[in-house]
Amino acid sequence: MPVARLDDLLAEGVRGRRVFVRADLNVPLRDGEVADDTRIRASLPSLRRLADAGARVVVASHLGRPKGERRPELSLRAVSVRLAELLDRPVAFAPDCVGAETQHVVDALGDGDVALLENLRFHAGETANDPEFARQLAALADLYVNDAFGTAHRAHASTAGMVAHVSRAAAGDLLAAELEHLRVVLEPRRPLLCFLGGAKVSDKLAVLEALAPHADVLAVGGAMAYTFLRARGEPTGESLVEDAQVAEARRVLDAAESAGRRLLLPTDHVVARELRDDAEHRTVKQIPDGWMGLDIGPETAATYAAEAARAGTIFWNGPMGVFEIEAFASGTREVARAVATSDATSVVGGGDSLAAINQLGLGNRIDHLSTGGGASLEYVQGMTLPGVAALES
Ligand code: 3PG
Repeated sequence: MPVARLDDLLAEGVRGRRVFVRADLNVPLRDGEVADDTRIRASLPSLRRLADAGARVVVASHLGRPKGERRPELSLRAVSVRLAELLDRPVAFAPDCVGAETQHVVDALGDGDVALLENLRFHAGETANDPEFARQLAALADLYVNDAFGTAHRAHASTAGMVAHVSRAAAGDLLAAELEHLRVVLEPRRPLLCFLGGAKVSDKLAVLEALAPHADVLAVGGAMAYTFLRARGEPTGESLVEDAQVAEARRVLDAAESAGRRLLLPTDHVVARELRDDAEHRTVKQIPDGWMGLDIGPETAATYAAEAARAGTIFWNGPMGVFEIEAFASGTREVARAVATSDATSVVGGGDSLAAINQLGLGNRIDHLSTGGGASLEYVQGMTLPGVAALES
């Protein structure tokens, strides 16, 4: 069933209506201030359009994983300050997301006013998708908009449960744009090249397996590459290897090979004995005992860049090395440059990959920068996102 859009709600009229907007304002904070406001900025178009049309806008989000506890360092108050600056209008802050005080803040909204509720995950009912908590959230609103693409892969009270209790629900502009742009990976111009990196192979094995039949080339980097190298019987020294996943990695390699897919692993490595920025490091073809791989080497980066130059579509999620440390950042940067300069349609998701792109000032050379790491990975595997399914039902 087609999902209603914000345009539909606006056409029906929202003046004076309380519109609950589930946004993903899960942004990094440093010293009590917003350290990166990308996700707040991405939420602005829907909020602006609703406020301009006279809606009483009730914005809700999670921040971090407080697991049902009220953790002051995960308060959204600092986000409300930044949101007000960016929207260029006052944003009332409700010190909770349900209850009498919240109701009071929502009741006080005039047409075109905006309020931000406190972190939804201060209540365990949010992640448990508790029906009573979902009903309490829904009681704050006449209409519902989900614009939280980054959280669309979670079946939580604010992304899924509450939708059944509102009279009208729609996808916000950000959610709709993300789905539209990410479709290019599901229906790619070939060849489709997927760069997958990051530390945890256990998180990404299922992704690799799901993408393998669909992608023409899979290029692996980051710490997870070492589990694959171990599975191939290559030396990995002290590199981070998930022993429990080696057999599974072997199976994924075999499956990709028998399906005629090319699954590329690093052929050289930047290694060090310690994970420190001033640690002695060198480039090797084989990882010696006592050393650990911390980045792909220049030969691998060149191979991966050549694949990017040939690709019709590129999807990239996850850094190629320990990107936060300068000595181990080159592989990620080279891939970022290669993706940006390729003629392929390019889609990048995940915090570190985006940070690499932004550091190099290459954001405008990428066709789509996704605000969702986990959500974009699930979507490109063809999985149903609960936040989207709820809008369809
Ligand atoms: C994210 O940062 O990927 C989203 O905000 C989802 O957060 P979560 O993984 O804690 O559900």
